[in-house]
Amino acid sequence: MCGIVGIIGVEEAAPLLLEALRRLEYRGYDSAGIATLVEGRIERRRAAGKLDNLARELAAEPLRGTIGIGHTRWATHGRATRNNAHPHLSGGVAVVHNGIIENFQNLRAELEAAGRRFETDTDTEVVPHLVAQYLASGAEPVEAARRAVGRLEGAFALAMLVTGTQEFLLVARRGSPLAIGYGEGEMYVGSDALALAPLTTRIQYLEEGDFAILDREGARILDAEGRPVERPIIRTALSGAMIGKGNHRHFMEKEIFEQPSVLGDTLRAFADPGDHRISLPELPFALDAVPRLAAVACGTASYACLIAKYWFEGLAGLAVDWDIGSEFRYRAPVLQPGQAGIFVSQSGETADTLAALRYMKERGHPCLAIVNVPESSLAREADSILRTLAGPEIGVASTKAFTTQLATLACLAIGTARVRGRLTPEREAELTRALDEVPARVLQILQQQRLFREIAEELANARDVLYIGRGTSHAVAMEGALKLKEISYIHAEAYAAGELKHGPIALIDETVPVIVVAPRDALFEKTTGNLQEVAARGGRIILFSDAEGCGQLAPYCWRSVALPACDPFVSPILYTIPVQLLAYYTAVSKGTDVDQPRNLAKSVTVE
Ligand code: F6R
Repeated sequence: MCGIVGIIGVEEAAPLLLEALRRLEYRGYDSAGIATLVEGRIERRRAAGKLDNLARELAAEPLRGTIGIGHTRWATHGRATRNNAHPHLSGGVAVVHNGIIENFQNLRAELEAAGRRFETDTDTEVVPHLVAQYLASGAEPVEAARRAVGRLEGAFALAMLVTGTQEFLLVARRGSPLAIGYGEGEMYVGSDALALAPLTTRIQYLEEGDFAILDREGARILDAEGRPVERPIIRTALSGAMIGKGNHRHFMEKEIFEQPSVLGDTLRAFADPGDHRISLPELPFALDAVPRLAAVACGTASYACLIAKYWFEGLAGLAVDWDIGSEFRYRAPVLQPGQAGIFVSQSGETADTLAALRYMKERGHPCLAIVNVPESSLAREADSILRTLAGPEIGVASTKAFTTQLATLACLAIGTARVRGRLTPEREAELTRALDEVPARVLQILQQQRLFREIAEELANARDVLYIGRGTSHAVAMEGALKLKEISYIHAEAYAAGELKHGPIALIDETVPVIVVAPRDALFEKTTGNLQEVAARGGRIILFSDAEGCGQLAPYCWRSVALPACDPFVSPILYTIPVQLLAYYTAVSKGTDVDQPRNLAKSVTVE
């Protein structure tokens, strides 16, 4: 959700800023811009569309200067035009911003009444105007910027350049993440450490309400009350190389094919292969005593929570309230005393998931985050975290983050079932063995890529696609439909297979492919019945089951893919792979922008 970056250094800043923006483009990519300070004056280049357009502008008209700020945008206020692209400029102040300034209309009215002229439709433009107004009234730059930030409501991260002889970057964090990077005689700031990975590994995360002044020697940080504070400088393990595409055409493809390895890494954190027992770290609540859980997340991560609900309830007898982040805090959830929250997120910056965590924490409930970015806001605010070891996920559509979330939740559910006396050692050994086998089984599925590519070529002609499944496979169907929609732009919906006859079955004809997720679990026969109802109405069925299931249902199916036989407990992890591959190859066949689908952004830091 918008990426921001700033550099104050010794080399020309614009090429470094552009490179850093490439690493942030996953956050938003509808327009971009850079401003630098050259001999006391601010110059800027901006372009609508992808970063390549800005690169062309810069090649035609290079920007000089060793201090600058840059931005890649995901539009919230105002269309994705060049004019609305950041940095925004007024009275010698340039600003890049991530987040939303909620009181911008009031501020704009006030500033316009004072005679200031606005040029854009954005909420951001009030910031340079406010700072410029305070400068005009005699305030020093730092004071002017701090007073301006004090007037803003909402969640934001800001970086500012101020015209003048003194060179520094001013940055502020409230609600949106910001990382400061330390170089040799150079300082950097970025929306995340990934942006700064090729420049430095020494990173300092700003805390809520922090304001910082960066010069070439270091950073001076003030907390929300204006007191000087120290924040720890940590070494990140991220490197520039970690975010290449390797031999793959897209990040999404690379990330799908990384799953055997990252699932292995994630599972090994909870169980040694051969040990057949899950070991969990200390949690902020007692698994044997907690009366109920709330599992909250957004998008794909919310489907991981839905699957976890089946696991916790079915295996451990522990009730789970499944919620979507954007709904949770607005529906006055009834929370039981002692109820714990589990919050699942790849980025750890999703605004609604964070807000849900804060809602529960404020009411005194213990909160656990399952998160892929350990330095993220969610990770820092939760009482404790379980880390998914997926590594950086760059493709906008979540793949390896989702399956590693499932692996983590599966281990948590097994551990919970054991301490609640619901699992014999034999059954625990069976389940952990099934989990141990997951990476190898995933590899087997990935090796069938040719088959998925063939099916996808046909699917690419569809206008609507339905996905059905029962139990955990309903959630896998939901994930499949989301993946197809977001990267191929084909309309897709998921239904619990038993619900079809209550309405959606009216959609079935020979033009609507129906993807049936049917592992041979306790509900297989029921799903089979629903599949036959579709077949009887001329539906074109694509079946995912194991060899026996496919053999049995072959007469009713247009295409079927036999997946490795598995314990039904792990089927949600394995059956996710085909829905990912199908979506990916369909998008490739349609020629859409797989890694940066239209209108989307990787990290949704606004409500
Ligand atoms: C879909 C997708 C999104 C995210 C959602 C939550 O492919 O990636 O639905 O799952 O925006 O993001 P995180 O996991 O970062 O909280």
